[in-house]
Amino acid sequence: MGALSAQAAQTVNLGHTLSDSSHYSVGADAFKETLERLSDGEFEVVEHPSGALGGERAMIEGLQIGTVDVVITSTGPLGNFVPGTYVLDLPFLFKDYDQARCVLDGEVGQDLLDEMSEHNLVGLAWSENGFRHMTNSKRAVTSPADAEGLKVRTMENKVHMEAFEQMGVHPTPMAFPEVFTALQQGTVDGQENPITVIVATKFWEVQDHLSLTGHVYSPAVVLGSPILIDGLSEEERGWFEQAAQASAEATREEVSRLERDGVELLREKGMTVNTDIDKGPFQEAVKPAYQIYTDQYGSEMLDRVRGSD
Ligand code: PAF
Repeated sequence: MGALSAQAAQTVNLGHTLSDSSHYSVGADAFKETLERLSDGEFEVVEHPSGALGGERAMIEGLQIGTVDVVITSTGPLGNFVPGTYVLDLPFLFKDYDQARCVLDGEVGQDLLDEMSEHNLVGLAWSENGFRHMTNSKRAVTSPADAEGLKVRTMENKVHMEAFEQMGVHPTPMAFPEVFTALQQGTVDGQENPITVIVATKFWEVQDHLSLTGHVYSPAVVLGSPILIDGLSEEERGWFEQAAQASAEATREEVSRLERDGVELLREKGMTVNTDIDKGPFQEAVKPAYQIYTDQYGSEMLDRVRGSD
């Protein structure tokens, strides 16, 4: 420790788009605590929350060129870089958290993490954002007919955009750091995100209606920059993997807590919560998105996901 403590710790810049009270921040804290402890201070993690390093797409590009070291991101823009992950963005693919976590923790999840290295990224661990729900400022939405014609911000993800188009919604892709202002100024009527994000971003200030559509599970992933990770020793890389695993576990716990308590909080903040959602018509409306996906990417990955829980 004597020799080590005399050396300056190597800074690891970790970015994400959510506030420092979010589930991603809980994950960032666990990453920091674990890496600094395992490395005995060789690495010092500095968290950059709230999109300080840009939106998720920009941060993924940053990993590829080495301007950021570690990113916690949803799969929203990831398919643009690692097309294999698009399968996870299909609506109504997973029925609940247990099923989604089981698939991501199994062979399919590992293969997708491995695939990231073919695209100049290092997949360290699957973390979690949560099941996505729709919010808007216009009206209660309990069926696709209610949603028709709404202008809804989506992630920059063509599978999601396609699904919303099938629902009759006008999808407006946008980086997350611009979303609050767009909702405030009425550039879009609504957005869709998990309870975790709706709480962390205080969307109740700009959205009146929440519909618990749970239309798609939104995974998150802890990614590393190959420029940093490929230069590490095997032992050091192992510390990063353990830190990412600890981060994912802490994040999932926080997601589960907010799934239990978050909806009540949103009611208290004044949102009208529509729980009476018949998912059947939504599932029917988005079906063509599956055909469009398999036409382009084949059905192998989809079959593997469906067969692996
Ligand atoms: O809506 C998004 O872009 C994502 O869900 C978010 C909020 C950036 C979290 O990954």
